[in-house]
Amino acid sequence: MRPPFKTVGIVGTGAMGRGIAQIAAQAGSQVRLFDANAVAAEKALESICAQWDKLVEKGRMDTVLATESKSRLLLAPAMEDLADCDLVIEAIVELLAVKKSLFSSLETVVSSQTVLASNTSSLSITAIAAGLKHPERFAGFHFFNPVPLMKVVEVIAGLRTDAGTCHALTEYARRMGHTPVLAQDTPGFIVNHAGRAYGTEALRIVSEGIADFATIDRILKDQVGFKLGPFELMDLTALDVSHPVMESVYRQYYEEPRYRPSVITAQRLAGGLLGRKTGEGFYRYVDGAAQVAEEVAAPAVAEMPPVWVSPRSARRSELLQLLKNLGAHIETGASPSMTALTLVAPLGFDITTVAVVERLDPARTVGIDMLIDDESTKRRVLATNPATRVDMRDAAHALFARDGKAVSVIRDSGGFVTQRVVAAIVNIASDICQQGICSPKDLEIAVNLGLGYPLGPLAMGNLYGPTNILEVLFNMQTVYGDPRYRPSPWLRRRGAIGLSLLHQEE
Ligand code: NAI
Repeated sequence: MRPPFKTVGIVGTGAMGRGIAQIAAQAGSQVRLFDANAVAAEKALESICAQWDKLVEKGRMDTVLATESKSRLLLAPAMEDLADCDLVIEAIVELLAVKKSLFSSLETVVSSQTVLASNTSSLSITAIAAGLKHPERFAGFHFFNPVPLMKVVEVIAGLRTDAGTCHALTEYARRMGHTPVLAQDTPGFIVNHAGRAYGTEALRIVSEGIADFATIDRILKDQVGFKLGPFELMDLTALDVSHPVMESVYRQYYEEPRYRPSVITAQRLAGGLLGRKTGEGFYRYVDGAAQVAEEVAAPAVAEMPPVWVSPRSARRSELLQLLKNLGAHIETGASPSMTALTLVAPLGFDITTVAVVERLDPARTVGIDMLIDDESTKRRVLATNPATRVDMRDAAHALFARDGKAVSVIRDSGGFVTQRVVAAIVNIASDICQQGICSPKDLEIAVNLGLGYPLGPLAMGNLYGPTNILEVLFNMQTVYGDPRYRPSPWLRRRGAIGLSLLHQEE
């Protein structure tokens, strides 16, 4: 079958250009490699061919396809050699002026029908296209690294892009074995925008002294099912990549508080603690393995106090059943006795506020995160308030560890770690829908394939309850008085009437 684009030019043959060239040739297109540095293009050709040899060796690629793909890959020593291309994909340095100048030159070489695309991850498609003679045939075609393995590509329409241009790129993406998602030209497009919450909210929790890096990573992996904690992830991507993305999206959105970066990453970047690649990031690496301190074991408590549970706790009946299963002596009075460990399970509110509002003795009050059903998590998270007595904290820790489940004890904050991070993810995703950047369906696909979250952000919101997420945000806004926790209208409306976040309005 003839590919939608018979001859494809790749300009810029670094990490991204190589990957795109590889899958374009595999899809049946003739591919021309052009780079300002001729040696780079030659090296790219060699490395792509070596990659195919490796795939054949491992039995992951058919020998015939590898030989045919190799025959379709050619060097283009001069830009003029791209004249007969019906698609040119640019993957050069991320500088607006350089990209604009490249496309102006390309327009003098290729036909007016040739589709032109940029793999930019942070520049505006509309801005790159400004000044082109035919901006209607120009679009964003944003792949992820490593291209052959990251099976999603964002097709981005600038203000003057023709729908037919996006359609052709979408078809071609499928032909390459990738899943295309359509995005409007906005800062970070879909994936780099939706990914803003995970790291930034985790950093904010650290900056408040609530929990350390390793504790936050453990909580988010064990409670929500993320493959990597936010700090492990930042160590993998490296701060010289992830911190500038945080800054870029924040600045481009005119300092929208939801995207506010952290001084922690700015400082660590300046200090060269970039992550795995420099041997030290949030963790230190010895022979490629992160050095993580042992978790604190549950304390031994000789005499367990009786337990009283606030009637306003989230999932109260489940919490009572859990306590029963753990063999706790549960008090049933309207208020706790003088010796009772007092448990509260708020959504969004901090333990201090709950103790004060419910007139509980803060010294005996401990919080537990009940956003997620206990049975579906591998870890329980408790929070103290500044007045919590050590014996009460230890009693709660020992009690909830009785069945061998992991327990983390953190300091007081509005929303526990999971509530804060999940609510921030769902809120930013909701705002992407509110702005019409993409369809809810494409958002879920883009995040699943581009970020590898255990669930799409809207599905995550549905699982934990849009109304609960909304409650977390409203209450956190009260605790912090910070506009970053302001719920998106998209979430506010759906949460208020208990509607699925994936619901498409007619
Ligand atoms: P890279 O630095 O590995 O390769 C860039 C190549 O472009 C080099 O070979 C360089 O010689 C060539 N080049 C620079 N200016 C040129 C010009 N004026 N004309 C022709 N060739 C030129 O860069 P990388 O990482 O492949 O990134 C390329 C583009 O892809 C950037 O826009 C980047 O933002 C974007 N991107 C990068 C991702 C990544 O993870 N590396 C992910 C998604 C997008």
